[in-house]
Amino acid sequence: MDFKDIVQRRRSIRQFTDEPVTDDQLKTILRAALMAPTGHSKRAWQFFVVKDKEQLGILSQCKEAGGEFLSKAAVAVVVAYDAEASDVWIEDAAIAAVTMQYQATELGLGSCWSQIRCRKDNQGVDATENIRKQLGLEPQLQVLCIIGFGHPAIERKLQDESRLSWNAVR
Ligand SMILES: Cc1cc2nc3c(=O)[nH]c(=O)nc-3n(C[C@H](O)[C@H](O)[C@H](O)COP(=O)(O)O)c2cc1C
Repeated sequence: MDFKDIVQRRRSIRQFTDEPVTDDQLKTILRAALMAPTGHSKRAWQFFVVKDKEQLGILSQCKEAGGEFLSKAAVAVVVAYDAEASDVWIEDAAIAAVTMQYQATELGLGSCWSQIRCRKDNQGVDATENIRKQLGLEPQLQVLCIIGFGHPAIERKLQDESRLSWNAVR
């Protein structure tokens, strides 16, 4: 698969089989994140790997809606960043997150982004605070998102070439 195909094939996958993601696959995904570009080459992100089913279940409920798929993921990576280390931490974390998603696609794995920044749980508690308590994150760490990975339990269509928003290109 060349990069052009990977880009077209990447779709958000929220249903996964029980097949585990191997340590080699996980390492390849994390390698991609660690090679991602960062402002001033700060590389101040932290990636928290969660495989434990109970922990995945808790992560899936750390915000009000939209994270449920994490309970079925084989593994999730919490993308955190030392916000005091850079003024472009959101960009850096987002680039690392999406780079992992493209790498997962190349490996034949599915993935989906669960937004954490600016999200609250159903009691109004900040989702990042819930994760901070659960994973013991240091206070300076902010969480952008959690990416869930696994073997796709559904097949999604390739991105439709004929429906691209070419009018956004000016
Ligand atoms: C910043 C951002 C936040 C997202 N948050 C969520 C989320 O919380 N839950 C979810 O299921 N999908 C989330 N997604 C995935 C989008 O819903 C998905 O990328 C979009 O619907 C396009 O579909 P596709 O990825 O299959 O092309 C998010 C994606 C991005 C880039």
